[in-house]
Amino acid sequence: METRARLAARVAEIAPFHVMEVQTAARALEAAGRSIVHMEIGEPDFPTPAPVIDAAQRAIAAGGVYYTSALGLPELRAAIAAHYATHYGVPVAPERVIVTAGSSAALLLVMALLVNRDERILLADPGYPCTRHFVRVLEGEPYAIPVSADSGYQLTAQLIEQNWSPSSRGVLVASPSNPTGTTVPRAEMARIAHTVRALGGQLIVDEIYLGLTYDGEPVSALAFDDDAFIVSSFSKYFNMTGWRLGWIVAPERHVRDLEKLAQNLYISPPTPSQRAALACFLPETLAIVEERRLAFRARRDFLVPALRELGFGIPVMPSGGFFVYADITKFSDDSERFCREVLEGAGVALTPGIDFGRHRAADHVRFSYTIGEPQLAEAIARLRAFLRR
Ligand SMILES: Cc1ncc(COP(=O)(O)O)c(C=O)c1O
Repeated sequence: METRARLAARVAEIAPFHVMEVQTAARALEAAGRSIVHMEIGEPDFPTPAPVIDAAQRAIAAGGVYYTSALGLPELRAAIAAHYATHYGVPVAPERVIVTAGSSAALLLVMALLVNRDERILLADPGYPCTRHFVRVLEGEPYAIPVSADSGYQLTAQLIEQNWSPSSRGVLVASPSNPTGTTVPRAEMARIAHTVRALGGQLIVDEIYLGLTYDGEPVSALAFDDDAFIVSSFSKYFNMTGWRLGWIVAPERHVRDLEKLAQNLYISPPTPSQRAALACFLPETLAIVEERRLAFRARRDFLVPALRELGFGIPVMPSGGFFVYADITKFSDDSERFCREVLEGAGVALTPGIDFGRHRAADHVRFSYTIGEPQLAEAIARLRAFLRR
């Protein structure tokens, strides 16, 4: 008789990415000869900037492949800190920067630092799913607060206050957000910081898409709360998803404990990636990624009006990242089925809302504009023909 190990209960509570299933179905159709426009993918289509690749190759050739400090290379920590001063106008001491294996590891470290069993982290629904799963893995309770277009699909100070309880430990805000691409306005972020502090909680802000801001100047939450944990990444703005490199800006008194956790969980962030990332802050690399930011903005400016014209509900203009979160109630009340039908009928791959939470998830889909404008135009033409049937 087959004996099977009993698995920890938490495993059953971690949902798979439905977008991966969409991708598998899309690839199967492609293998059968169909042409598919991919709007399900959550990473930039642009290659890693050439100066970064060159720096990596030089570093590897020179033998720079050994473990670093768990906190990261001192020169990279200093470069990230300087970027906050030059780009966001906030001074950050290099000692507060912890380089991590992607912002994924950054989120995991911060949650491991803060969350005891059954303690709550408040977060928005819809939101990036891994964050709530990290809390769950640590036996905490991700407390999802439904958000709607009224608040730009973001938490507000009022929502935080209304949902706070004695077991609440902190609040996670992602701005700009995945899947909605919306940003917490400055004044609201200041109120959120004030409220969380007054409640005795800890604010964590996921700013992985902050570099990809399209309307106005990007503002880091550090401008309002020097005591917040800021999580960010080289993945999106610097087009380095597979290099697995991110960072935390932490209050200085917590750095030692975060270092301890990083040492134990993964020893150090990837060394060749860190040496490569030093080239991110060269003027020539910044010029490349700035040009790409403008290309993303142009894509957004094409896509959003075109989708609205087709009947998709986009009540809030997304202001960052590369996602559009669209209401499909004009066409369907089942986003999973809608995505399947659009994939098969129109050859356009989308992500169903169920990947991002429960709140009105069946009424929404996410479009990624990680494809060029000719492909976006092709997607719109296909959707128009499909929806007309
Ligand atoms: C909001 C958000 N946070 C964090 C991540 C994790 O990214 P990485 O680990 O590549 O930095 C993602 C990836 O899509 C994301 O969308």
